[in-house]
Amino acid sequence: MPPTIEASGPNAQQIEYWNQNGSRWVNLQDLIDPQIRPLGLQAMDAARITTGETILDVGCGCGDTSRELARRVGAGGKVTGVDISSVMLERARELTQRAGLANATFRNADAQTYRFEPAIADLIFSRFGVMFFAQPDQAFANLLTALRPGGRLAFVCWQQVSENAWMFVPMLAALQHIPPPPLAGPDAPGPFAFADPEKVRGILTRAGFGDVAFESLRQDLIVGGGNNLDVTVDFMLQMGPTAAAIREADLTLRETVRTAVRQALEPYATDQGVRMGSASWIVTAQRP
Ligand SMILES: C[S@@+](CC[C@H](N)C(=O)[O-])C[C@H]1O[C@@H](n2cnc3c(N)ncnc32)[C@H](O)[C@@H]1O
Repeated sequence: MPPTIEASGPNAQQIEYWNQNGSRWVNLQDLIDPQIRPLGLQAMDAARITTGETILDVGCGCGDTSRELARRVGAGGKVTGVDISSVMLERARELTQRAGLANATFRNADAQTYRFEPAIADLIFSRFGVMFFAQPDQAFANLLTALRPGGRLAFVCWQQVSENAWMFVPMLAALQHIPPPPLAGPDAPGPFAFADPEKVRGILTRAGFGDVAFESLRQDLIVGGGNNLDVTVDFMLQMGPTAAAIREADLTLRETVRTAVRQALEPYATDQGVRMGSASWIVTAQRP
């Protein structure tokens, strides 16, 4: 097992969080991957990948996207998944070996501060893995150095929580019974840190990227990957803003919260699973 990075530097809090909570993500990954896979695939399509390319997959987690990127670049190409969570990377390595994809490897590193080999990559890709930097300007300036001139950036990130029914509806139901979690500042790292396209455009432009473009994706997702209502409710109680509120709450209220969340999700239950709206951005840019 390669050594785990220390929880130090500007992202020490996130390193601690994603290592302490990484096993929860690993356990839920079979439900998360099918839910968000369509969004990642659309971001890959926007990245116009060709065979033989070298790609960095930033915040790759358990490596679902790294494996698909490795298939797209073929045996002559190369994918490196970078993540601060050693627990999630352990799972990524295991699944990638099982898939027989020798052209995908993983590195336990902080993408904001890691000294990448200069101009190594044709593409920097991420599925929901770039919103957690303490200093996004510095992080993207660092990532830019890893791109060859003319190299591309493509990632998918969430729009505002209120635009994402799949997170907002259960959260509002839970908040009828428990207090909201402590409010994070507008620039705090987190899933919605890149919801404002003008803010993201500023970060990327200051970092030195050009041709910054946004495509709005608004589409239904099969929440929790197509399981029945009860499994999906349990999934939502462990995910995102609802889970954050529950972690702080009085234990005796959990059953009440669960019932409220179940009632809120019930109208969205279909034969294929719980189907709810989402909104995300596909962001693309280029190193001049
Ligand atoms: C929401 S998860 C997404 C994981 C994966 N991309 C997926 O779609 O399943 C965010 C990921 O970003 C990683 N991450 C957060 N900050 C990071 C940083 N500074 N450098 C590298 N990875 C980071 C986390 O460890 C986590 O795996």
